Parts: sequence; structure tokens; C-alpha cells
Amino acid sequence: MRREVAYNQYLCEVEKQLKSGGLFLTSRGEKVNTMVIGWGGIVFFWGRPVFLVPVRKSRYTHGLIEKSGEFTVSVPPKEDLKAALTFCGTKSGRDFDKFKECNLTPVPGEKVNTPVIGECWLHYECKVICRHDLVPENLDPEIDRKFYPDYHTFFLGEIVACYTTE
Ligand SMILES: Cc1cc2nc3c(=O)[nH]c(=O)nc-3n(C[C@H](O)[C@H](O)[C@H](O)COP(=O)(O)O)c2cc1C
Repeated sequence: MRREVAYNQYLCEVEKQLKSGGLFLTSRGEKVNTMVIGWGGIVFFWGRPVFLVPVRKSRYTHGLIEKSGEFTVSVPPKEDLKAALTFCGTKSGRDFDKFKECNLTPVPGEKVNTPVIGECWLHYECKVICRHDLVPENLDPEIDRKFYPDYHTFFLGEIVACYTTE
């Protein structure tokens, strides 16, 4: 059963999970795909609740979000789905149907065409309202050296639905 919640009700849980396993970032083109993010988060921008997701240009997900202009974020239960997080965070949707490989259930979104993940407990449906390419000139050189050259695009998605499922 879906229960609508405020976009900021579970900020601490989202941050904890980002730092300890990651969140599923789901997108769709011809097929549905999900990857894992360990960075990003929920912010308040232009008077709207926004999920900021950093996606490197090499990811299959990058092109899917660029084309569709939407994505969903699903939060896994604390100790569950570790194998799925590892698989989806290391294999590309170019080579695998990750939903099938990991037995994940795509559940239709309410306000976007991208599904959420049935095995997760908390979901954010997002429509992209801004994309921002990270440029090296604007970056602290030490961070640049440590984490790049495959630069992120920051996709800012307005949270248009947020709910828990049982
Ligand atoms: C814990 C964890 C956190 C990750 N965080 C990010 C991230 O924030 N941004 C990113 O672009 N890739 C991140 N990745 C890597 C992608 O999830 C991985 O490259 C994935 O296979 C991309 O899938 P795709 O090619 O189907 O889009 C992370 C991986 C793991 C395991």
C-alpha cells in the first residue's frame, strides 16, 4: 500500500543509506534500468523540493535521463538488497537487464513514466527541471585529481511524488 509522505520526512534515512550502500536511481528508455548512487540528496530550490543526482557521463543512465527528463529514486531496506546494490552499482544496463538479473520488481510510477522498485520502502518520483555539467575549472583541484576525469552531470529533479510502500 502506498502512503504519501512529506518530501523531507526521511532526510536522515536517505543520507544514511547514501553513505552505506547507496540508493537505486531508476530511469527508462526502451527498457527500464537502475543504477546506484552514493552521492546527491534532497534540497530546496526555486521554492520546490528537489532531488539532486550526480550521474557520470559514461553511465547508460545518463542518456536515459537526458532523453526522458525524469527519474525515480528508491531507498532499499537497511540490511536488504545488498547483492542487488552491488550488481546494479557495477554492471551497466547496456549489457544487462538488471531488473531481471536481480529479481527487482518495476512498479509503475504515479506521476512519471518511470517505475519505482517494489522491494524498496521509500520512493521519490522526479521531473528534471535543471541539468548542470560539472566543469573542471570550477572544481577544487584536489577533488578534481581524486575523482575525475569522467565528470558528473548534476540532474535536479523536482520531487513530484514521495511515498512509502509496505
Ligand atoms: C555505492 C555506489 C555508489 C555509486 N554512486 C554513484 C554516483 O553517485 N554517480 C554515478 O555516476 N555512479 C555511481 N556509482 C556507479 C554506478 O552505479 C555504476 O557505474 C552503474 O553500473 C552504472 O549503471 P548504468 O551504466 O546502467 O547506468 C555508484 C556505485 C556504487 C556501488
